[in-house]
Amino acid sequence: MTVITIANSKGGVGKSTVAVHLAAWLHEQGHRVTLADCDTQQSSSEWIREAAPEVRAVRLNNPDHILNELPALAAETDYAIADGPGSQTETSRALLLRADLAIVPCKASMLEVRALAKATEVLRQAQDIRGGVPEAVIVLCMVGKRYRLTKDMQDAAAALQLPLADTAMTLRQIYADAPGQGAVVWQMGARARTAADEVHRLFAELLPEAQRRKMKSA
Ligand SMILES: Nc1ncnc2c1ncn2[C@@H]1O[C@H](COP(=O)(O)OP(=O)(O)OP(=O)(O)O)[C@@H](O)[C@H]1O
Ligand SMILES: [Mg+2]
Repeated sequence: MTVITIANSKGGVGKSTVAVHLAAWLHEQGHRVTLADCDTQQSSSEWIREAAPEVRAVRLNNPDHILNELPALAAETDYAIADGPGSQTETSRALLLRADLAIVPCKASMLEVRALAKATEVLRQAQDIRGGVPEAVIVLCMVGKRYRLTKDMQDAAAALQLPLADTAMTLRQIYADAPGQGAVVWQMGARARTAADEVHRLFAELLPEAQRRKMKSA
């Protein structure tokens, strides 16, 4: 089993959006998935219940519960996805002490990337204690359609020694509409097509081993 936490102590950067889509995608790839909603607002557990009811949703919003219960929960499924809170450092710390991989959503502006140094301090502490674990990757979220990664931003990410995913999530109304419809974007018809392609590409890049093996035609 693999524990993946979606971590950025900054609020409103796209954590829950990534968490719910990732949990639903992994389920569709044929894996057993638990979504651990570790935010006191509990929005992602409600959302996943509508979008992918087969994903087991649990609420774990205190650091002791996370440290004590996350390993057992993860052992019952192939993937446990933890949606972290926007503040509450101790909750984030507990998640980072239990995770194998941390996905760090970040808005694509220099200001946000600079703020990452602060926002990822707990991540670095965990990596220091655990000998480099959890592995971490930055995913740029809510980027403009004509956005291009600037050298400044690449340098800022490199200075933090965090890899940057090649695929970014574009700022699109469809993502904002998804939770209200209790859906993930690939359930939302033709107008969501480009968004669906984008998230599929992102997850295939982050977790190539999780992609469903295509059946060989005889
Ligand atoms: N790529 C996107 N394009 C447009 N809107 C987006 C995108 N990603 C997320 N949103 C919207 O932005 C808001 C914040 O996203 P989300 O709730 O995923 O962030 P969060 O990091 O989980 O926030 P919090 O810290 O409050 O838990 C939500 O209203 C969401 O629907
Ligand atoms: Mg959230």
